[in-house]
Amino acid sequence: MKSSSAPFPAARPRRMRRTPGLRALGAENALSVGDLIWPVFVRDGENISEPVTSMPGVNRLSVDRVAEAAREAADLGIPAICLFPYSGPEKRTADCAEAWNPENLSNRATRAIKAAVPDMMVMADVALDPYSDTGHDGFVRDGVIVNDETVEALVKQALAQAEAGVDIIGPSDMMDGRIGAIRTALERAGHQDIILLSYAAKYASAFYGPFRDAVGASGALKGDKRTYQMDPANSDEALRMIARDLAEGADAVMVKPGMPYLDICRRAKDTFAAPTYAYQVSGEYAMIAAAAQNGWIDGERAMQESLMAFKRAGCDGVLTYFAPAMARLLR
Ligand code: PBG
Repeated sequence: MKSSSAPFPAARPRRMRRTPGLRALGAENALSVGDLIWPVFVRDGENISEPVTSMPGVNRLSVDRVAEAAREAADLGIPAICLFPYSGPEKRTADCAEAWNPENLSNRATRAIKAAVPDMMVMADVALDPYSDTGHDGFVRDGVIVNDETVEALVKQALAQAEAGVDIIGPSDMMDGRIGAIRTALERAGHQDIILLSYAAKYASAFYGPFRDAVGASGALKGDKRTYQMDPANSDEALRMIARDLAEGADAVMVKPGMPYLDICRRAKDTFAAPTYAYQVSGEYAMIAAAAQNGWIDGERAMQESLMAFKRAGCDGVLTYFAPAMARLLR
């Protein structure tokens, strides 16, 4: 980039920062409510809103309450909700069969949202971890997370989500070949317009801790996810994963976590110019929310600043637990 500015005092960059109006005119990026996808935790029961201890301000909602929340989100202008089921131990089995049960929590919540607020887009997560007795995203055979057998199950899970009426499918499992397999199956089943938002560059991260509490997976998880999620040391590899997923039929790609990986967002956007999203994950949310709760930072400003960072890094949108709070602030 060429620097065209004159030397001081002809150039006084502070001139452009003097008033709110000048700062608004000079702003290079803007965050709008249309950039937000709201991840929501769903649980069994009726009329339940149960706080997630490690995520102050976040609740697990029963299906009826999810539909209500969708209505409130729609009133705020939030375009999409992403569902994460919290399944009890009885739904966590070695065969993960609940994943493709048309009546599982995620599919019931999808139908409830679509019935209550047809325009609200529903995104569902493809991965076996909510239904697995090991907490892993794939089947475990002799201590190994097996790829191809898992992909077959993920395809069944995605088809059940498509039948339930989702608009966006987000494979978060990091198995090889799943985007192509799911895309082919969706085309064959007549679901040609479902968006595949691939968790293309998903890292093996400590920042998922509170999420695993929220979905009840932390107790179950044996070992870690490093044989399928990416090494935080890598950046070129993220570009290869994104290239691959786009080639296999992903409509949009995601980088996850968000804030520690803004460099990946920027490289991804510059390289592929594809619809690019970041997931500001549970640990990122928890850090800001907890510090704010303690009075150590201004929570509202930290939320705003952190979300603007994704726009600056080239993201088209962001999955964030702050979605309703941010939407209210933007109004
Ligand atoms: C699992 C999944 C995870 C998240 C979304 N989908 C956790 C994991 O990979 O263990 C994390 C989201 C968050 O931390 O907010 N398929």
